[in-house]
Amino acid sequence: MTTTNDPTAQTLERIGAKTPEAVAEKFAEVRRRFDKEATDSSDRERLQAFVLRWTGRKAGVLTQITDNWLKPATPELKRVVGQELNKLKAHVETTLEEKRKEIETASEQTVTARDKIDLSLPGIERAFGTRHLIRQTFEELQRIFTAIGFSVVEGPEIETPYYNFEALNIPEHHPARDNMDTFYIEGARSSYLLRTHTSPMQIRTMEKEKPPVRIVVPGKVYRRDNPDATHGYMFHQIEGLAVDTDITFCDFKGTVDYFAREFLGPKTKTRLRPSYFPFTEPSAEVDATCHVCGGKGCRVCKFSGWIELFGAGMVNPAVYGFVKYDPERLSGFAFGMGVDRLAMMKYGVTEVPLLFQNDVRFLQQFP
Ligand code: DAH
Repeated sequence: MTTTNDPTAQTLERIGAKTPEAVAEKFAEVRRRFDKEATDSSDRERLQAFVLRWTGRKAGVLTQITDNWLKPATPELKRVVGQELNKLKAHVETTLEEKRKEIETASEQTVTARDKIDLSLPGIERAFGTRHLIRQTFEELQRIFTAIGFSVVEGPEIETPYYNFEALNIPEHHPARDNMDTFYIEGARSSYLLRTHTSPMQIRTMEKEKPPVRIVVPGKVYRRDNPDATHGYMFHQIEGLAVDTDITFCDFKGTVDYFAREFLGPKTKTRLRPSYFPFTEPSAEVDATCHVCGGKGCRVCKFSGWIELFGAGMVNPAVYGFVKYDPERLSGFAFGMGVDRLAMMKYGVTEVPLLFQNDVRFLQQFP
């Protein structure tokens, strides 16, 4: 409220100072208020409001002082007010700058404290997968045979009766077809089936390649047996075939012995029992001395000292007729192994379903 016409007195009144000397005291008051508010503005949000309150271009305290105290002041007062105002501005600026830094460091410190990595803590363990026992066994078998010059080939699981039976010297109505319990695929134009063994790849390979032939064929085979504790619809085999101009029964037996030693241990011995397969002549069942008791007799070999390994024999010359190989000039041997059986035997697995259920507790036992 203006009570005088003297412009100097009017300005002093607005400032609330009685004399020009008291102006400095008024500015000191403002400054104390600023300092108090600064102390209270201890976080980012409060600081923001505080900055706006004091330095806001339109309504900030500094603007108000400029507009109300400085601008209308008479020249003699302007000097004092100007000087005081500049000091205040400088003080406000440095204080705000310090405040900003303070708050920044504080928040940086909380972030670092929260995200700090303690290198002495144990890490998070990654669960490693392993290859399935059957896969491992396949790889072991392939290693054993590729080491002596066999190569690995694979063939179709959907076959024709020609490759699965006929060309293997199993004609229609041959009793060997009966115990194969074949899955036939119905509705197909010509008839197809799920291969009951890996032997068809003997034919497919010899059809395509000239002798010498040395192959192993790993793969799945299918039979309509009743699924129970010991049989499923699908199991795994690995087929072997070696054909050349001078392969003898000795080569066959030598290969069998080498395999048994590699697979079951260096002391393993083998024996051949006469058997029958249409595609081999003579045919044999290969037995090995028991890898558990060494032949003395134990529960694993049913106290016989021997365990059955696989079926094999010298390739029946009748088979060569189907692939246009000269039976006068060529000879060879073949074998077919049940991989699931071999794996179970070697690793002491007693139940077939364990191989197919993929229970992690089982799988983890074969890292
Ligand atoms: N294919 C026969 C089976 O599944 C196994 C077999 C026996 C394969 C003798 C052969 C062999 O190559 O020579 O029962």
